[in-house]
Amino acid sequence: MKFSPNQVDRVLIFDTTLRDGEQSPGATLNVAEKLTIAKQLAKLGVDIIEAGFPFASPGDFQAVQQIAEQVGTEDGPVICGLARATQKDITTAAEALKPAAYGRIHTFIATSDIHLKYKLKKSRTDVLGITSEMVALAKSFTDDVEFSPEDAGRSDPEFLYEVLERAIAAGATTINIPDTVGYITPTEFGTLIRGIKENVPNIDQAIISVHGHNDLGLAVANFLEAVKNGARQLECTINGIGERAGNAALEELVMALHVRRQYYNPFLGRPAESETPLTNIDKSQIYKTSRLVSNLTGMLIQPNKAIVGSNAFAHESGIHQDGVLKNKLTYEIMDAESIGLRDNQIVLGKHSGRNAFRTRLKELGFELSEQDLNKAFVRFKELADKKKEISDWDLEAIVKDETQVQMVNGFRLELVQVSCGNRACPTATVTLLTPDGQELTDAATGTGPVDAVYKAINRVVNVPNKLTEFSVQSVTAGIDAMGEVTIRLQHEDRLYSGHSANTDIIVASAQAYINALNRLDTALQMQASLPPEKAQLGLEEPARV
Ligand code: KIV
Ligand code: ZN
Repeated sequence: MKFSPNQVDRVLIFDTTLRDGEQSPGATLNVAEKLTIAKQLAKLGVDIIEAGFPFASPGDFQAVQQIAEQVGTEDGPVICGLARATQKDITTAAEALKPAAYGRIHTFIATSDIHLKYKLKKSRTDVLGITSEMVALAKSFTDDVEFSPEDAGRSDPEFLYEVLERAIAAGATTINIPDTVGYITPTEFGTLIRGIKENVPNIDQAIISVHGHNDLGLAVANFLEAVKNGARQLECTINGIGERAGNAALEELVMALHVRRQYYNPFLGRPAESETPLTNIDKSQIYKTSRLVSNLTGMLIQPNKAIVGSNAFAHESGIHQDGVLKNKLTYEIMDAESIGLRDNQIVLGKHSGRNAFRTRLKELGFELSEQDLNKAFVRFKELADKKKEISDWDLEAIVKDETQVQMVNGFRLELVQVSCGNRACPTATVTLLTPDGQELTDAATGTGPVDAVYKAINRVVNVPNKLTEFSVQSVTAGIDAMGEVTIRLQHEDRLYSGHSANTDIIVASAQAYINALNRLDTALQMQASLPPEKAQLGLEEPARV
C-alpha cells in the first residue's frame, strides 16, 4: 500500500475528475481523452486518481484498465476504481485495476435514513452486514481499500460511527465521508470529522478522507474545516466539475492550503512557519491541467472562477492597477506564475522553424510524438500565415485541437464552405470523410452560416441530435485572434460536447460539431455492442452514482 494510515504527514489529494467530474452532464470523455487527463494529473502530482467506475460501462472499464497500466506505475499515483458494495462491482473493479502498481478499490453504500428507506429499501442491520462483507471482499483483492458511507452528511452520527468501525475492522484503510448532496455547513462538517475521530474506536487504522458537492457553494470551505479536524485526504476535481453544482475544486483547495499555510500548518502538527508543502501538488501545472480538462470536457470556466478564471488575476479598477504597479502585494495574495499562468507572450512567428516550435512546446510541457508534432507544425504554419504573432495560448490551442481531433476515429472534415450576407440566404456545403474512408458531400441552408453548416453536416452524418449550447471565445485579443468554439448536443437524455479552435470561426464551429458527433457516434456504437460486453462484465443495469 502506498499510503499507510500512520505515515501520512501531509494532505493527500485524491482526484476524482475522471469519475465524479465526468458525471457532469455533457462532460463525457472517451478512453483516449481520459488517458490524456490522467497523464496530466500524474504530472500535477495528485496522490490518487479515481479513474472511473469500471462496472458502469465497458468504456469506464477500459479507461480504468488503461490508466492503471500506463499511469499507475511504481512511482506514479495510486489508481482507484469505484464500486458499489456489491460482489459484481467489486470484482469488476479489481479486474480493471490489476495492471496498477498501486490499485485501490473504493466501495460505498448509503447510510442516511432517507437513502435506506427510499433507495436501498434496507435496514441499518442490513447495511452493517453488507459493509463488513463487501469491504472484506475488496480486501481480498488489494490491501488498499477505501470505504464511503454515502450521504454521510445527512446520516445519524451514532450509526455512522458503527458502520465506519465495521468497515475498518474488515480492512478499509481509508474511510471517506461524503456530503453527497452538498447540504452540510463548515462548522457541522468539522464537528462530524472530530466526532468520527473521537468515537470510532479503530479510527487510528484508517486515513480520514472527505468528499463533497457544491450545491450551496460550501464544498471547499467544508473541506478546509475538515482538515482542521483531522481529515488527511481531500476528494476533489479540476475546475470543481462534477455531479450537479460540482465537487470541491482541487485548485482552490491546494492554493488555500498553500497561501494560508501558516494558518493550516499547526492543524497538521507543524510549526506555523514551516515551509514543507502541505500537499504534493506541483502548482505550476495547475493552469495547464485546468485548461486541458475544460477543453476536453467542454465545461467552460466562468471568468470570475477562483484561481483559474480569466479574471482571477486581472485588475480593472484604476486604484487596484495603481497599487499593483507600485507593489503586487497591495492587491495580490498569490502570483499568477505560481499556477503556471504566464503572460500572453508573443513567442513565435511566420519565420520560426520546426526546432523553435518543438522547443517552445516542450517548455510548455507538451511532448508530442513525431507524427503529432508534424501535424501541429503544419497547423502552426497555416496560423502564422494568417496571424503575424503567435502566442503561447495560440500554441496551446493548436496542440489541444490537433490532439482532440486526432483522438477520435470518426468523421473527418474535408471541406466547409459558406455563403452568407445581409441579402443572402446562408448556404453551406460540407465534405466529410467517413470512418471507412468514403467522401460524402452535402449542402443546406440555415438561419445563419453556422446553422447552415450544422444542417449540412447532419445530412451527411444522419445521427439525430439537438444542439443545446454553442459558445465562441477568442484565444487572444485582436482581430486576427483564433476563436475557440465549444458546443454541446443532446441525444436522448445524454449530452456530448465538442471543442475546436481556428482563426475562422466557421471552420472551428464545423470541427467542434464533428468532434461532438464523433463522441455521440462512438457512444452509440458502444451501446450497440453492449449485450456481449454486458455478459463479459456482468452489467445488469446502468450504474451511476
Ligand atoms: O457524492 C458521493 O457520495 C459519491 C460517493 C460515491 C463517494 O460520489
Ligand atoms: Zn460525489
